[in-house]
Amino acid sequence: MDLVVKNGTVVTATEMFQADVGIEDGVVACLGQFDYPSGTPAIDAAGRLVMPGVIDAHVHLEDVGDNGTPTADDFASGTRAAAAGGTTTVIDFVSPAPGQSPAEAAALRRRQAESKAVVDYALHCCIPEAARFTAEEAARLLAEGISSVKLFTVYAGLALDTLSLYQIMLRAAEVGLTVSLHAETGEIVEHYRREFAAAGQKDPEYHAWSRPWFAELEAVQRALALNAAAGARLYFVHVTTRAALEAIARARREGQDVWAETCPHYLLFNESALRGPDGGRYIMSPPLRRAEDLAALWSGLAAEDIQVVATDHCPFPLATKVGRPFYEVPNGVGSIELNFNLMLSEGVLAPGAARLTPSRLAAVTSTNPARFFGLYPKKGHLAPGADADLIIVDPLKTRTVRAAELHGGEDHSIYEGLTLRGMVETTISRGEVIYDHGRVLGTPGRGRYVRRPVAGWDRAAGGTPV
Ligand code: URP
Ligand code: ZN
Ligand code: ZN
Repeated sequence: MDLVVKNGTVVTATEMFQADVGIEDGVVACLGQFDYPSGTPAIDAAGRLVMPGVIDAHVHLEDVGDNGTPTADDFASGTRAAAAGGTTTVIDFVSPAPGQSPAEAAALRRRQAESKAVVDYALHCCIPEAARFTAEEAARLLAEGISSVKLFTVYAGLALDTLSLYQIMLRAAEVGLTVSLHAETGEIVEHYRREFAAAGQKDPEYHAWSRPWFAELEAVQRALALNAAAGARLYFVHVTTRAALEAIARARREGQDVWAETCPHYLLFNESALRGPDGGRYIMSPPLRRAEDLAALWSGLAAEDIQVVATDHCPFPLATKVGRPFYEVPNGVGSIELNFNLMLSEGVLAPGAARLTPSRLAAVTSTNPARFFGLYPKKGHLAPGADADLIIVDPLKTRTVRAAELHGGEDHSIYEGLTLRGMVETTISRGEVIYDHGRVLGTPGRGRYVRRPVAGWDRAAGGTPV
């Protein structure tokens, strides 16, 4: 045995129990009470929670924003911050250039990450054009270990028209690839952006006005209608409104294989943040919504209508976020390091909140993304045979967020000054301690590319998400 995490309370997506975790050759070898040779390295986790490492299924590292601004994190700084926050696997994106084969772009993107990643990483592939998503390309993507495509209904150069959306869904269903979708209707957004710009309405709050709730709902409903015929596995990234969530939940009840993700910022802030003096810092798409929507998202998480929390980590330097017209601010915020702590604090530990049980937290931050994106049971699971990706969490500690103390490349944080309950003390990735009590120990390049087969979880066969 290489390492034992002893005396902790193990939290899985379905139960909590006292157990030791024995790790050998990077995998969980034993769980429960077992003998091990004296002298075996051990971490005493008494009074701590031992949980599956977080799987952040939506990150943008070493990328450029919608207006060409480079993100503040590359694969090295972003995954270092991920390790410090308890994340052991990230799923980033391949964005093929015009005319480039998706599978070729995927191979290049993998190489971009391989010498830098501190945690394990996988990739989704953006498909900006139906014609490029041939049966051959789909098979090549699967051979590259990519089992999900990412589609958009907004953003110049990425937005797909209705027919293209349907054709890609059909192809995806045929080969078993999952379809991830950013759902906002581009025509509505572009119309309002032009109108506000022409009228000199440049303040950050107009970002929200230009991307109204019905733009999200329209795109969600259209995708659901198309997918009712196409029959793909469909995953809505960053769901922000009650209306969209209700439409998705209805489709699930009617038998569609459809899942919903939300992000910490939609659970912690409402649109009023955009009206503050530094409102530009809160510009991301879709935008922050009303307090009623925020409450609906928390209820949806608890009621299992939202299955995944991911960060959509896409940070930019402060100087690019403030003091500009809203339409020149790159879209996106960072939370790769704080994600789990935010959810633990605000979902589980905040007095009177009790929105989520610890097991539900494990489900939405780890087990469900693993199941949906083909990583389970190797990842997202604390059980013998799984990768020893786990975190040790002290539920009694508190911390106040200081951007200067975070481990990534962002020079500010929308969570600055927030006091959080609970703290990730240790992160273990494939049996290696990569973060411990404030210090990142994992080195760039140790993270491995994870091939994702078509997800095994089959709704039609009677499985259920947790
Ligand atoms: O504002 C956001 N969300 N930026 C990242 C790109 C995207 O749309 O997910
Ligand atoms: Zn998006
Ligand atoms: Zn995104």
